[in-house]
Amino acid sequence: EKGGYDHFMLKEIHEQPQAISDTYRGRLLADKGIIKMGSVDNNIAKFLNAKRIIVVACGTSWHAGLVGEYLLEDLARIPVEVEYASEFRYRNPIINKGDIVIAISQSGETADTLAAIKLAKSKGAFVFGICNVVGSSIARETDSGAYTHAGPEIGVASTKAFTTQITLLALMALKLGNLNGELSNSKFHDYLQKMSMIPGKIEQLLNINSEIEKIAAIYKDAPNCLYLGRGYNFPVALEGALKLKEISYIHAEGYPAAEMKHGPIALIDESMPVVVIATKKGHYDKVVSNIQEIKSRNGKIIAIVTEGDTIVKEIADHVIEIPETEEAFTPLLTTIPLQLLSYHIAVMRGCNVDQPRNLAKSVTVE
Ligand code: M6R
Repeated sequence: EKGGYDHFMLKEIHEQPQAISDTYRGRLLADKGIIKMGSVDNNIAKFLNAKRIIVVACGTSWHAGLVGEYLLEDLARIPVEVEYASEFRYRNPIINKGDIVIAISQSGETADTLAAIKLAKSKGAFVFGICNVVGSSIARETDSGAYTHAGPEIGVASTKAFTTQITLLALMALKLGNLNGELSNSKFHDYLQKMSMIPGKIEQLLNINSEIEKIAAIYKDAPNCLYLGRGYNFPVALEGALKLKEISYIHAEGYPAAEMKHGPIALIDESMPVVVIATKKGHYDKVVSNIQEIKSRNGKIIAIVTEGDTIVKEIADHVIEIPETEEAFTPLLTTIPLQLLSYHIAVMRGCNVDQPRNLAKSVTVE
């Protein structure tokens, strides 16, 4: 059942190239230069007239929502707010006519997300669901929606659900951006081609598993770990930290790299590993200065860089290379080594990777 892997989590990490292809199968028609999404097409006027999109979700799905914010604002120029469902539902939120609520949930059963949807509907919002589990409560409760088609995710730590949620949000952002004139046809076509190359690039990345295992062995006993990223990769830093804490029980925090100076830098000493996402384009020079600041305080740097990087390689203690792609798609690649890193650390610490203590796969109570 685990397909020869020791754990479901490892199997599901390796399934990502297939899962992402399944998400865009029949939707991303790169050669024809179109994105077909029935549920978006059927509601296209609502999407194109939306003054604002509010994303509601919890945990990893909330992190996918944050990547969605960058995608939808950058590519389609639609204002987006991303809310924890648990806060949104109790805050007496302002929902205006013409707002669209997107609810994201792997299981489709998360109590807070479901309650946020019901509240939004009662205030007259159009609610669109992004779910993995077919026929789930959230899939049924939403006005319309799209399935990620990632296949069953058994490990409590969400992996392929996250990258397929991002894939779907990217398809929506590209489609809407092209239709509302923010994204020229040539740029749009270029994005479609690059998106269709993502599964192959993840396949390539998965080959560095043993390299990551070596890094894991060095840091497996660290009591704390910091994750930094900027722009599109800020949410990936949050997700990397969540993955480490939930399965290895190491205290980890994710931060936007520039916020380091406003507090977390005080934590840095020779025993603090810092995972930094420093891909090309994504405010690279600024992230390089953050890395220098950490090194001058003797912190240990594990950097995720773009293939062929030379500058960070000089300063970081370890570098993990990801293949080149559009900046907007880098979260789909930078996430992979972070999943593997937390997986190997958790295994080395003897933790129950697939069923971490105190956690349930779907949180059906608030
Ligand atoms: O099923 P959902 O996507 O609604 O679940 C939301 C969170 O409970 C979930 O992502 C949780 O944070 C994961 N265990 C993270 O790996």
